[in-house]
Amino acid sequence: MNYNLLKGKRGIIFGALDEQSIAWKVAERVHEEGGEFVLTNAPIAMRMGEIKKLSIKTNSEIIPADATNLEDLQKLVEGSVSMLGGKIDFVLHSIGMSVNVRKGNSYTAQNYDFTQKGWDVSALSFHKVCQTLHKNDAMNQWGSILALTYIAAQRTFPDYNDMADNKAYLESIARSFGYFLGKEKNVRINTISQSPTPTTAGKGIKGFAGFLSYAEKMSPLGNATGLECANYIVTLFSDLTKKVTMQNLYHDGGFSNSGVTDEVIEKFED
Ligand SMILES: NC(=O)c1ccc[n+]([C@@H]2O[C@H](COP(=O)([O-])OP(=O)(O)OC[C@H]3O[C@@H](n4cnc5c(N)ncnc54)[C@H](O)[C@@H]3O)[C@@H](O)[C@H]2O)c1
Repeated sequence: MNYNLLKGKRGIIFGALDEQSIAWKVAERVHEEGGEFVLTNAPIAMRMGEIKKLSIKTNSEIIPADATNLEDLQKLVEGSVSMLGGKIDFVLHSIGMSVNVRKGNSYTAQNYDFTQKGWDVSALSFHKVCQTLHKNDAMNQWGSILALTYIAAQRTFPDYNDMADNKAYLESIARSFGYFLGKEKNVRINTISQSPTPTTAGKGIKGFAGFLSYAEKMSPLGNATGLECANYIVTLFSDLTKKVTMQNLYHDGGFSNSGVTDEVIEKFED
């Protein structure tokens, strides 16, 4: 499948850790659609991860950056503009991590140092990315910036823990920064609220396997896969969606608007 939707466009893709990562699939699809980009991830993840393979496959450079570190982000933005030979058209923020989830602390027994670290990585980093792009005037007119989120920002999913609060903050940044970059540069900023997807971050959530099956049965179209998410993202980076901005866009097979489904009812009938 190739529509050349991103030919001539330059971007930055955060968050490809391994082949399961949503950002990995996005990099592959964007490459197929003719886009050029710099791959980035936290230096620690790059040692563990396989990002080099992806860079070879997609003919892209890697610039390590901790997305919470402003110096790293400055070098990333400057380096990307210079390596790609011009301003940026698209940016994907595909980053999430909760230290409380990792350490097994429940929502009602958080370690607030962990809470702050998780918030910085998962939510504030999005503001830092947008602010660095803005400060450097690095975005092209009609560019597109996206971050990934989850419906736990709107409804309670107890095991999603403090990530729910982080996602609510992240979605708010898309609206707030979307105003300023929209007015100044016609740049759009949106969040995509994706189905549960079996990745390293996803599988870190307690009870993930059961939840994946539940969501599958609660979604008329079934769960959206990582590849399907990548396809949607290609459209949002393309010129076909220029006036979509400051939105939280559900990409979830209909889960968010389903009260119940026949499959779920059947499970509870005697
Ligand atoms: N998997 C799901 O079920 C699901 C559902 C909805 C939304 N999301 C969101 O999608 C995004 C991508 O997650 P994924 O599921 O592909 O998992 P993933 O584990 O493959 O990706 C998470 C990425 O965040 C990166 N990261 C962590 N700390 C960082 C830092 N300080 N600086 C830079 N990068 C850092 C990791 O290295 C990793 O590449 C996240 O925002 C996640 O919350 C995931």
